Amino acid sequence: MIPSLKRLLLIWLLVPLLIIMPVAAVVQYWLALIPAKQEIDHQLGDIAIAISGFLKVEGDSVRFDMNPETEHLLRTDQLDKEFFVVLDPAGKMIAGDAVLDLPEAAIAAGELRYVDREIAGRAIRMLVYGVPCGSNTCQVRIAETLVKRERLHFQALIATLLSILVLGLSTAGVMLLAVRHGLRPLQDLRTQLAERSLGDLRPLDVPKIPSEVQPLVNALNQLLVRLDKASKAQQSFLADAAHQLRTPLSVLQTESELALLEPHPQSLHATLQRLQHSASRAAKLANQLLTIARADSSVQKQPDFGPLDLKDIASWAANEWSHLAFVAGVDLGFELQTAPVNGQSLLLQELLSNLIHNSIEHAGKGAQVTIRTYIGNNAPILEVEDDGPGIMEEERQKVLQRFFRGSQAKGSGSGLGLAIVKEIARTHSAKVSLNTPDSGRGLLVRVTFNASRGTG
Ligand SMILES: Nc1ncnc2c1ncn2[C@@H]1O[C@H](COP(=O)(O)OP(=O)(O)OP(=O)(O)O)[C@@H](O)[C@H]1O
Ligand SMILES: [Mg+2]
Repeated sequence: MIPSLKRLLLIWLLVPLLIIMPVAAVVQYWLALIPAKQEIDHQLGDIAIAISGFLKVEGDSVRFDMNPETEHLLRTDQLDKEFFVVLDPAGKMIAGDAVLDLPEAAIAAGELRYVDREIAGRAIRMLVYGVPCGSNTCQVRIAETLVKRERLHFQALIATLLSILVLGLSTAGVMLLAVRHGLRPLQDLRTQLAERSLGDLRPLDVPKIPSEVQPLVNALNQLLVRLDKASKAQQSFLADAAHQLRTPLSVLQTESELALLEPHPQSLHATLQRLQHSASRAAKLANQLLTIARADSSVQKQPDFGPLDLKDIASWAANEWSHLAFVAGVDLGFELQTAPVNGQSLLLQELLSNLIHNSIEHAGKGAQVTIRTYIGNNAPILEVEDDGPGIMEEERQKVLQRFFRGSQAKGSGSGLGLAIVKEIARTHSAKVSLNTPDSGRGLLVRVTFNASRGTG
């Protein structure tokens, strides 16, 4: 599995949180509970000290003198049952509840000792208080059941769980948001790269990129600059080579045509014909390569583009192609509506010429070819439709590639025409689609331009 930065960050943040939260819960629980329990113990201490005030020492005898109302008051508690006992220095019970007369270790005068005991099967909290009785020590013991304390435990537990839950969930939420927010520049970078067309090698522009990602963007931009240089060098090499080839090839073509017209031995006639044919093929190929190189470099030179109408491009083609179509026995028809686009007319004329040339060549004699320009779904559209053999479904993607010729291709082309069409369309941010006409026979090539560009 490919590691995800987001998942990695979340694991590193959330796993420690899951460990810290229970520890924090335990700490918080005890921090809340201990002072509350001490407070309840202090209340027991206060009562014990109050009770000790009723001890009277007279010589060797000790007396405990508390009226029933005071005793009632001391025993009053809404939740717990209260017990007390008073013991003389010999450990003999003077007053109170016999159940508390339990064996306990000796206690010094003034000492307060809290202990957990059990009486009649019930857990109790008991305070043993050493009271000075002359030169000896009496004991006041006071105890209560644990209802208040258990309630306190429960309340502290609920409060702790709730606060830890709220804290944990909100921290996890904030972490999620922070990770998402932190990774957004990378997301933007990815979107920008994904949206780039192949020919767009401009440096990336990511304004709010964090400093950690900046070196990556710099490296990518340097790579793009190198790629741009390499691609331009390749294009200019192709353009230069094609351009250099064109002149000698057209000379060769003209010379071979002239040689055919001059008197020549019959035995050379077939050779001269092949020479002339190859020379014209090579000259056409050089022209096509030059067009591809120009279309390629136009991607970066869009300032050359201007507002124009597809209808005008088609009207130009009517002048240019009508005679050739007539000679080839093809009926060339036009259905033209205004369709404004932003583009370069020479390239668009080349695009349309390639489509018309294909229809004449591949649909053949007797074919009906229709050129249409119109606005469909807000987008300017250029169509060339013929009623020839069309292109088989499985070949439709391949014919757009360079140097691919269909299995039923006619003539002696190089398989570059549709690749040129695709390249020029790409330069204009237009899309080429190969379709079957409504009649069910032939080929309908549709070039759909960008709707927003059409108005520009
Ligand atoms: N109108 C059409 N009708 C039928 N098949 C077509 C048509 N247009 C193109 N094709 C098929 O698509 C293939 C590729 O076309 P493309 O224009 O790229 O090359 P080509 O016409 O063979 O050669 P070139 O255009 O270089 O002279 C052709 O070989 C042909 O098989
Ligand atoms: Mg062609």
